[in-house]
Amino acid sequence: MNILVTGGAGYIGSHVVKELLDTKHQVITYDNLQKGHKEAILGGIFVKGDLADKALLDQTFKKYDIDAVIHLAADSLVGESMEKPAKYYQNNVINGLNLLDTMIANDVKKIVFSSTAAVYGDVKEIPITEDLSKKPTSVYGKSKLFFEEIMQDYDQAYGLKYISLRYFNASGADESGKIGEDHNPESHLIPIVLQKALGLREKLAIFGTDYPTRDGSCVRDYIHVTDLAQAHILSVNALAEGKASTIYNLGNGDGYSVKEVIATASEVVGTNIEAVIGNRRPGDPATLIASSNRIKRELGWNPQYGDLKTIIETAWKWHKNHPNGFKK
Ligand code: UFG
Repeated sequence: MNILVTGGAGYIGSHVVKELLDTKHQVITYDNLQKGHKEAILGGIFVKGDLADKALLDQTFKKYDIDAVIHLAADSLVGESMEKPAKYYQNNVINGLNLLDTMIANDVKKIVFSSTAAVYGDVKEIPITEDLSKKPTSVYGKSKLFFEEIMQDYDQAYGLKYISLRYFNASGADESGKIGEDHNPESHLIPIVLQKALGLREKLAIFGTDYPTRDGSCVRDYIHVTDLAQAHILSVNALAEGKASTIYNLGNGDGYSVKEVIATASEVVGTNIEAVIGNRRPGDPATLIASSNRIKRELGWNPQYGDLKTIIETAWKWHKNHPNGFKK
C-alpha cells in the first residue's frame, strides 16, 4: 500500500516511518515541520505540508495514489491546550476533518489514528480498559476524543474504517540511536531526567510526593516507541484485511512511579541523578496503567521493549549522542 503518514517527522511519527520502511509498503510523510524534524525521517517520500492546506492534501493523495493513512499530526501538550483551546480544536479537530474529507473524496477509507490515554481523565479503575467512561480533564484529551467520535460517524455514513490507538506514556528511542525524542520545550519525564544527567538542566523536580501511590509520586505506564510503531503497522495491515473499526489501548500494563524512573535512570547512566521535591502539576492523575489485552488478543501485538530499564537505555543512547537533539 501507499501509506500517508501525517506528522511523520515527529517523535512517534518518525519511529512509525522507520518501521514502515522495513515493510513492503511505500511511505509518504506529510508534515509541516512546525515541531517535527526533517532529519528524523529516515526514508520514503516527504511532502512539507499542513493539514490546513486542503489543495496540497488533495494533490498529495492523487500524486501518490494513497491507499491508507496513519494520522499522527497534532498538537499534544496538555498544559498548553488549557491556555489555547482554539489552537487545539483548530489543529486536532478542524484540520483533521480536512484530512478525513480528502480521504473520502479520494475513496481512501482506512485510517490509523494517534489517540491518547488523556481521553479517560482521572479514572479510578486500574488497569484501564477501552470501554471505561471517558471524561477527559484537558482540551487536548477532548480534542482526541472528539476526533474518535467523528471517525465513528464517518464510518456510519461513508464506510470509513479506523483503528484508534490510545497511547499511554510513549518513551525510549529507536535501537539504532539515530532518532529519538526532541521536543522544545521538553515536558516529558524521561528526557528531562536524562538531560539533568547530562548537565543540560539545572533542576529536576518530582511533581508531587503526596499521591496515594506506593511511594507518593505518580505512577505511569511507559511504552517503548518502537512497540508503539509496530502496533501501527499491525493496525494498518488489519484494516487492509477488512478489520472493522476498533479502539485499542497501548501500554505495557506495568506502572512505574516518578521516583522509580529516576532510580532506574541513575542505574542506566551510572551516576545518582539528583531530584528535588516539587509541587503537584495541575491535572496529573495519580496512576495511569493500561490494559492492552484487546490489541494483543485481536492483532497479536507483542511488545519487545517492555522493561523500563530497556526503555531508558535506548533513550539514553539517543540523548547521550545527541545532547542538542537533531540540531548539529
Ligand atoms: N514529571 C515530574 N517531573 C517532570 C516531568 C514530569 O515529576 O519534570 C511527572 C509528571 O508529573 C507525571 C510523570 O512524571 O506524573 C510523567 O509525566 P510526562 O509529562 O512525561 O507524561 P504525562 O503522563 O503527563 O503525559 C502523557 C503524554 C500525554 C498524554 C498523557 C495522558 O505525554 O500526551 O500521558 O495522560 F496526554
